[in-house]
Amino acid sequence: MRIVSVVGARPQFVKLAPIAGAVAAAGHEHVIVHTGQHYDRDLSEVFFSGLGIPEPDEHLAVGSGGHGVQTAAMLAGLEPVLERYRPDWVLVYGDTNSTIAGALCAVKLHLPVAHLEAGLRSFNRRMPEEHNRVLTDHASDLLLAPTPQAVAHLEHEGLGGRTVLVGDVMADACLRARETGRAAGGGAAFAGIEVPGPYLLATIHRAENTDDPERLSAIVDALADLPMPVVLLAHPRLRAKAEEHGIDLVRGALRPSTPLPYAQMIAALDGAAGVVTDSGGLQKEAYLLSRPCTTVRTETEWPETLVDGWNVLTEPAAADFAALATRPAPAVPVGTPFGDGRTAERVISELAGRVR
Ligand code: UD1
Repeated sequence: MRIVSVVGARPQFVKLAPIAGAVAAAGHEHVIVHTGQHYDRDLSEVFFSGLGIPEPDEHLAVGSGGHGVQTAAMLAGLEPVLERYRPDWVLVYGDTNSTIAGALCAVKLHLPVAHLEAGLRSFNRRMPEEHNRVLTDHASDLLLAPTPQAVAHLEHEGLGGRTVLVGDVMADACLRARETGRAAGGGAAFAGIEVPGPYLLATIHRAENTDDPERLSAIVDALADLPMPVVLLAHPRLRAKAEEHGIDLVRGALRPSTPLPYAQMIAALDGAAGVVTDSGGLQKEAYLLSRPCTTVRTETEWPETLVDGWNVLTEPAAADFAALATRPAPAVPVGTPFGDGRTAERVISELAGRVR
């Protein structure tokens, strides 16, 4: 079996790592196509080297741009590549512009396409990620769903016949990275974070939080006012928007840092008292590692994390923002809604069993 993986943005490299391992272990052929959506070393190369992913076979070097320009450049770049390899499966990951471009290009070439992390919904039609998810699911031949909730969303949209519940490949990656970090001494030291005592780990990068200066300012103010150091792993979009609007990231509780490689990021989370974020992946990683998470959004694609108060959705203007962000871990232990950490193997056997 020949699989072409189309990836381009940081969270996709994390999902690719266990898949690449499982494809190699099963002796199949794997072609990795990097669209170039993320091009900063911190967001791209360090993930390939740090997670032991083979170098991409093809790199489209698409770079930044408006949604139309970026997605169109990916489509134009992908078509000759997919035609050349004509794989048994095109595998697309998550919800970025690279995901929709990979799915659309494959469909137009009549190549079978599978969507990993299918069926997630925020029901917020203003998020670019929501358009990408819904359209990719409806275009794909096989929907690899991470949770029963995701399966229910797909069934509701008439896609149950193409859906299979496999678990969440992010659990594979996260639990493995925790072991790597702990074996190397773990925690803040391994992550290179110099904060005495308890700290919170924070990331903010979504367009709906960064692109309106008033909202971004309110979020940064709320973080800076917290009564505990806040290690802010600043995505390039956050840095660019803060600079553009004159919002200072070096004040109060804030300790801005460059984004971390994956194992260091998981170690930083393992050593943190809690998390404040708008990232989908980090909400789930906080849950997997039993760290209370405060999500600066009005909805989440991962409602499983809300159970028993492990994750809480809030707004920067909320009167109890500081109390929520610094709350202790709930007494009730986390569940296992994201599978057993062996999802990648299941994905590969599902694909192999369906080669036409
Ligand atoms: C993208 C995904 C989002 C995912 C996130 C993870 C889409 C629509 N969004 O958001 O779902 O959660 O990746 O990080 O696909 N930039 C750089 N260097 C880089 C990459 C981006 O400077 O390596 C800056 C550029 O100014 C760019 C901006 O960040 O214009 C936004 O990048 P983009 O690729 O559009 O989306 P992300 O915000 O990274």
